[in-house]
Amino acid sequence: LWPVIAIDGPSASGKGSVAERVAQAFGFHYLDSGALYRLLAYAAHTRSVAWNDASKLAQIAAVMEIRFENGEAFLDGEHVSAHIRSEQMGKGASEVAVHPEVRTALLQTQRNFRQAPGLVGDGRDIGSVIFPDAALKVFLTAAVETRAQRRYDQLINRGETASYETILQDLKQRDLRDTQRSSAPLVQLPDAMLVDTTKMNITQAVDMIIAAFKK
Ligand code: CDP
Repeated sequence: LWPVIAIDGPSASGKGSVAERVAQAFGFHYLDSGALYRLLAYAAHTRSVAWNDASKLAQIAAVMEIRFENGEAFLDGEHVSAHIRSEQMGKGASEVAVHPEVRTALLQTQRNFRQAPGLVGDGRDIGSVIFPDAALKVFLTAAVETRAQRRYDQLINRGETASYETILQDLKQRDLRDTQRSSAPLVQLPDAMLVDTTKMNITQAVDMIIAAFKK
């Protein structure tokens, strides 16, 4: 079995950027599991299926055709990156992700990303549920205020309007939903390395993970 580096942590902790760079450093594949939940939220939205309709969501998850190419996401052949990156679909993702039926429907899809010569996966349950045998598990986090500031900067840089206060409240709500849900809640695993980026930049976090994997 090809080695897996599992990077789990709360919203806006920098998992995506860090995981992508670690994957590049080793020439590994990259699984952005959050994108799968975003794709499902978007697919449901376009079909007028509610984000609390667990059984219909699981049906959609089973038939939707997803593809990633150079970091761009495609749903049933349509380029949807811009749609799934919105705050609305972030919220939708976090709502559809609470249903056990949905998580089960997306399990094999995620495991299929494990291909030669290895995989870096980021999300909430990569080290606990998807790849419990991961060679390295990382819990990547930062203070909620720091994460809110980063998300705010990101949106402003994209030319969107944003309110720091709204983002902060939203992140707190998402943290609660991720850690309190019964199905695959976000936890800091005892065998995971803690990387707290409150006072660390992306490069430092990436270097720490690379060094730990090489050991
Ligand atoms: O970091 P952010 O929450 O903004 O986005 P994301 O990583 O793309 O994930 C979107 C949502 O999907 C999260 O808020 C989680 O609730 C959920 N998710 C999950 O439950 N399990 C995963 N492995 C990945 C994401």
